[in-house]
Amino acid sequence: MSKKLIKKKDLYFPSKEFKKNALINKKSIYKEAEKSQIKFWEKLAKELFWFKKWKKVFVHKPPYFQWFTGGKINITSNIFENNSKGFEKIKNKVALIWEPEPVNEQSRTFTYAELYAEVNRFANALKKMGVKKGDKVGIYLPMIPEAIVSMLACARIGAIHVVVFSAFSPTALRVRLQDTEAKVLITADGYNRRGKVVDLKKNADEGMKDTKVKKAIVIKRAENKVRMKKGRDFWWNDLKKDQSDFCKAEIMDAEDILFILYTSGSTGKPKGTVQACGGYTVQAKFTGKYIFDFQNSDIFWSTADVGWITGHTYSCYSPLLNAATYLIFEGAPGWPKPNRWAKIIEKYKVTIFYTAPTAIRMFAKFGLDILKGIRFNTLRLIGSVGEPIDESAWMWYFEKVGKQSCPVVDTWWQTETGGILITSLPGIGPFKPCFTGLPFPGTKFKILNDRGRECKTGERGNLVLLPPFTPGLLRGVYKNPKRYLKTYWSQYGKKIYFTSDAAYKDKNGLIRVVGRVDDVMKVAGHRLSTGEMEDSISKIDYINECAVIGMPDQIKGEVPAVFLVLKKNAVEKKRFTEDIYKEIQLKVRKEIGPIAGIKKVFVVEDLPKTRSGKIMRRILKRLFTGEPLGDLSTLANADSVQKIKEVIKLSD
Ligand code: WT7
Repeated sequence: MSKKLIKKKDLYFPSKEFKKNALINKKSIYKEAEKSQIKFWEKLAKELFWFKKWKKVFVHKPPYFQWFTGGKINITSNIFENNSKGFEKIKNKVALIWEPEPVNEQSRTFTYAELYAEVNRFANALKKMGVKKGDKVGIYLPMIPEAIVSMLACARIGAIHVVVFSAFSPTALRVRLQDTEAKVLITADGYNRRGKVVDLKKNADEGMKDTKVKKAIVIKRAENKVRMKKGRDFWWNDLKKDQSDFCKAEIMDAEDILFILYTSGSTGKPKGTVQACGGYTVQAKFTGKYIFDFQNSDIFWSTADVGWITGHTYSCYSPLLNAATYLIFEGAPGWPKPNRWAKIIEKYKVTIFYTAPTAIRMFAKFGLDILKGIRFNTLRLIGSVGEPIDESAWMWYFEKVGKQSCPVVDTWWQTETGGILITSLPGIGPFKPCFTGLPFPGTKFKILNDRGRECKTGERGNLVLLPPFTPGLLRGVYKNPKRYLKTYWSQYGKKIYFTSDAAYKDKNGLIRVVGRVDDVMKVAGHRLSTGEMEDSISKIDYINECAVIGMPDQIKGEVPAVFLVLKKNAVEKKRFTEDIYKEIQLKVRKEIGPIAGIKKVFVVEDLPKTRSGKIMRRILKRLFTGEPLGDLSTLANADSVQKIKEVIKLSD
């Protein structure tokens, strides 16, 4: 039987064999879910272990809503002792494989029983540090097994984890620790990145200043020399010795907070998205089961860092809830050689691979020579996430990695949605380059124009999610109900969730997500806000005002470019753009982190503004994309645009 996908016109479908073996392979699932979305999710929730069953499946008090109200659950009980596959059966199965960045270092593996014991020990250590149910715990760790262990340990005792991406700056860490008033921080001495040791503890020390953190647990990873503050900092290795390998799971209310994860929005301040214990568990488990088709023999690898939502859901909770074996990798996929990622797939016989378009474009850039002799034949399913994937990257991925035999699940979702919400299911299809696919069963999306009318096939509009939404949708913005209301529930009223994405549908109902309609940028799949960068750049004393926009980039999708207006005296000093560039680069790196690297700086006389003084970033952006500038009737200083065009031209 051919393993190749079946092509019908511009659509691809899974091969007969794939379809036959897939966990979900009947189209009728969509019909069933549509009949009653609430019943559909309830049926799924029943497959999980609950200490106590819910009283109501869905309660809606716009803009708030609840799922499984009154239910009692713990996500870790569902991973371990009460796993639906039976703990006895999975005990000796490998749960987690860790591949370190240095090629000669040994990998580490944990069976479900080993991971369980380690999570319990860590949970007990947290308790000893005084952490109680409802307390916030910061996690500032690289991709090492202890990152997974600490998240699960928090969940075990009902503490709320706040993971901060390890490459974020101390300032970014501090803001998150302050906002959540975290008591404890879990961090490491250092980690390997592109052959160098990053001194993470130093950043953590800096980030803990002016926060309420009283204790820090430090994991030894890089063996680099670090300063330990007496009474505050403790080595995990020392703490571990005295901890028992059992800790009772805390009984959590379905609507208790499981975690808070910060993400960029339209303003300078990041938003703490809040996830609930019950709904998130259901969403994480079943999106994984349906979309990645986790089977007993699979080896799943998601390249996402735990610092992002993809890492929370698919590099931690979802594979474990499904009793799968999965892999995490410490380093950069192109280190020490550009084919490292391919070597890892081969070494561990990875069967399901999930990564971002920016990585795929990078892989493709190096040409096929670097893949010579590497066997991808274990792969059976491949996925993409984080930004729109262009047709050439899709085709390269499909042909060169998937060998035309792996369904490509282009998965659309957001930090706010907790799990994947749009993608065609691998055992059903259809798959079409550039189109992320069909809404997940049990979810209802619409594409609306600015006046709220539904768009016709092919017509571009705003992507919205309708009630009952989904169990994993955020429950709020931490300590900021106004922002929650304004960002998600004001464009079309309190009953329609606004995604901030533009999209359209084709005649098959497949959705193509075009990009953001707000001031959020996707740089190499990472979410950054123009406001956040502008805030930090504006702190430089000689800058009068600035505007950051996403400029198209072949590999990263978008990269930040800055337009600056200098203060009078600075102009007189005739600073070199090169110096300004360096200084800005340093500033954003310090305040946000290296992912916010600025690509270009343009010093201009004036920024295009509306009569009321708002900067028209849309115009600046379109100067690069070549799109028509659009309606200029609100532009107050039309001559600025011509001058900016000249500055851009000069810099080429
Ligand atoms: C934004 C959310 C949750 C996954 C990681 C990103 C864009 C995400 C796709 C896709 C086109 C996509 C959207 C979305 N996006 N996946 N498959 N096709 N665009 O999470 O950082 O919260 O970003 O990423 O613009 O709104 P995030």
